[in-house]
Amino acid sequence: TCKQKEDISGWVRSIRSQKSNLFLHLNDGSSLQSLQVVASPELNDPSLTFGSAVEVTGVLKKSPHRNQPVELEADQIHVVGECNPVDFPFKTKERHSLEYIRQFPHLRCRTNAFSSLLRVRSEATTAIHSYFKENGFVQIHTPVITSNDCEGAGELFQVEVEGENFFSVPAYLTVSGQLHLEVMSGAFSRVYTFGPTFRAENSQSRRHLAEFHMVEAEVSFTESLEDLTKVMEDMFRSATEHVLAHCAEDVDLFHKHVTPGHRNAVDFMLKERFPLYINFSSSFSQWGCDLQTEHEKYLVKHCGNIPVFVTDYPYDLKPFYARDNKDHPRHSAAAVDLLVPGVGELCGGSLREERLDLLRARLEEVGLEDTYSWYLDLRRFGSVPHGGFGLGFERYLQCILGVDSIKDVIPFPRFSHSCPL
Ligand code: 4AD
Repeated sequence: TCKQKEDISGWVRSIRSQKSNLFLHLNDGSSLQSLQVVASPELNDPSLTFGSAVEVTGVLKKSPHRNQPVELEADQIHVVGECNPVDFPFKTKERHSLEYIRQFPHLRCRTNAFSSLLRVRSEATTAIHSYFKENGFVQIHTPVITSNDCEGAGELFQVEVEGENFFSVPAYLTVSGQLHLEVMSGAFSRVYTFGPTFRAENSQSRRHLAEFHMVEAEVSFTESLEDLTKVMEDMFRSATEHVLAHCAEDVDLFHKHVTPGHRNAVDFMLKERFPLYINFSSSFSQWGCDLQTEHEKYLVKHCGNIPVFVTDYPYDLKPFYARDNKDHPRHSAAAVDLLVPGVGELCGGSLREERLDLLRARLEEVGLEDTYSWYLDLRRFGSVPHGGFGLGFERYLQCILGVDSIKDVIPFPRFSHSCPL
């Protein structure tokens, strides 16, 4: 029978030369599995080393080994790009820590751990878009450059060209797409956005970046926080189940070797509906102080290491757009955070102030009524009760993979004093 020749390209993950055979493992990034190549030792070449890029021609055959369905019997090996094994920072068969590989942002995707992570990240992105599509949300591309500071926290990167104001008004990299989503929620009942978000936070913490990705949703015709927590929980559940099913091998590599034992924690989180709501206003005596990371961690641990919703934050702690609770006007906000094990705050959301008079009064208090005249217009023309939330995508990945530092779940981390390439 005619045996069809295949051309296979990839990077050498291991190389073993025996008397009668040369064995290579080639990986092209499509999965954790490498393809075993079997060749005559005459095809060996000093430039064929761990990390080099090669093209191999040969015939695919059923493999005698149980854990690999096929192998390539090669008759030609061409080294496309050499890799000096002395200078290359990774060594074959060595397990390098995430901290170690982080020193090489331009090379770390060549390691098993980081390439698995990036495949999980890609699949989780698909899963989140699928969730919104299946649930009737319209995707909106909210702008990266904006003239507003949605959160009012002053953590803005200003956009200028040679010190000049290109847009004639001060412009910034977005800290949240929420206000633009609220514009759209006045025409589409359910909208979402998923894109880069920027905060000039002078933090080196393990859960803050200067550039991260936020998933934000806005739901119209709702007066209940439960409508929002349902979307948060359903999205978390659906994305996580999708990732566990579609990226099992990559997730396993993490849970078995990089963050051993974390799989149990993820299964535990998914076991039941998130049962717990903690009412901030009736639970904490120091009214007026926000929760710090340590408090969030304590709460999650205290509740048995499951995701926890904290509701009813002090009204004055929340930005101008949050509405108050009907039962406690101007005292507590109809706001909710989702706290998860290992990470703390994963999502923040609230019902939005939809009443024109009250919103105008709040904006006057903070001196922003002129800046946000367009936002007040949204309440003048067909305003409806609505609310929304934002989920930090990198924190989500930390949570499901058990990764300690946020710098290890993004291809190119940006944080204060670090923007290497
Ligand atoms: O709680 P935040 O600041 O909420 C907002 O920006 C709202 N406007 C969102 C909305 O309602 N549409 O941020 C939302 C989430 C946080 O819970 C956190 O997971 C993540 O974004 N986040 C960060 N992630 C990484 N690095 C940072 N510096 C982050 N700041 C916030």
